Amino acid sequence: MNAPTNAPVWVGAWEPADGAARVRQLFADRFGAEPDGTWSAPGRVNLIGEHTDYNGGLCLPFDLPHRTYVAVRRTDGDAVRLVSAQESTGVREVALSEVAPGTVSGWPAYVVGVAWALREAGHQVGGFDIAVDSCVPYGAGLSSSAALECSAAVALDALFGLGLAGTSEQPDDAGRAVLAEACIRAENEIAGASTGGMDQSVSLRGRAGHALLLDTRDGSVRHVPFDLTAHDLALLVIDTKAEHALVDGQYAARRAACDEAAARLGVSTLREIDPDRLGDALATLAHGTGAVGEGSHDAEVLVKRVRHVVTEIARVEEFVALLDADRVEEVGGAMDASHASLRDDYEVSCRELDVAVDAARAAGALGARMTGGGFGGSAIALVRAGDVDAVAAAVARAFEDEGLHAPAFLVAVASDPAA
Ligand code: GLA
Repeated sequence: MNAPTNAPVWVGAWEPADGAARVRQLFADRFGAEPDGTWSAPGRVNLIGEHTDYNGGLCLPFDLPHRTYVAVRRTDGDAVRLVSAQESTGVREVALSEVAPGTVSGWPAYVVGVAWALREAGHQVGGFDIAVDSCVPYGAGLSSSAALECSAAVALDALFGLGLAGTSEQPDDAGRAVLAEACIRAENEIAGASTGGMDQSVSLRGRAGHALLLDTRDGSVRHVPFDLTAHDLALLVIDTKAEHALVDGQYAARRAACDEAAARLGVSTLREIDPDRLGDALATLAHGTGAVGEGSHDAEVLVKRVRHVVTEIARVEEFVALLDADRVEEVGGAMDASHASLRDDYEVSCRELDVAVDAARAAGALGARMTGGGFGGSAIALVRAGDVDAVAAAVARAFEDEGLHAPAFLVAVASDPAA
């Protein structure tokens, strides 16, 4: 008999000491010297609150055990030299004084962009050599780019004595918020992806054993205890392997639609729309009251986008209330509703994500949804601890039946922030 072709593939995380050793070795091999130290930062999953972070809304991500590791040495002058384990040869070199929007392409933008943003904010940051390696799945919607930015940020904080990150035992949340801001500017302005800031915030400001309730209206955070093992549950992450790219136009188009809807409704952000008055807001949009200039969105599209954002923010509150009441078994409904809203109203799901979510639900998941920006990337499913393998196998089988590329899986446990 043939071996089953649908055996699930699991993506493990490195032990922090192993990640540090790998990147230290890479630095020594490529630069022929020892680094000053090693730092790392995690990727993330978002439990709920999708496409709300650029609307002044709420989201609820947590840090993965999968991290990006950097080994860094401070140098004189303003040259940044970069190597990556994912590139077999060559050292990239960028002059910090020449970094500006549009001047750096590829992955180095996420590193030098952070140095640039810190300098723009008045911090004294100069040249450095950096080696990078990572076990955050790339292109899986698990924030490999934020992990890279944030690992560079904590390294530069330490090497240039900025004093922002605090210590691992006593992280400085206010200082980390400043570092997160620099990482967000790096991504928006130097890497050219107009993302909202959730990923950088959780990578720097999250906490092991907790989800991070981030209120993007004022940047405040609350660490919400999130321990699924105590409830005999697990969070299964399904990397659909469907290509996911935020630098393309779709993400920016969603953002532009939200901005236009807010302008038409006369609010600073969609957060200001009271869920109880959502019907009125949607009616205003549907009737096209307000300016309909050239290039503006269809009223019907704006209605759908706003309905998603406002109901999604309410679902975050519902989810957090259940966590606070120690009723995590009951969050599945909010997860399912979130996915439907992202699929039908926000239109950022795709076939692979829908297959993953539907197959997980059919195999007994308590709730499932896409996570992150969408258009590919990953889905999450809340499952009974004893069902993890069976649900993963069912999803892998569904992908095979649908003729899709085999997905990959990991079990997400809320882990440490950048350090
Ligand atoms: C991406 C962005 C985030 C956020 C999510 C959607 O992950 O980087 O800022 O907008 O999409 O919730």
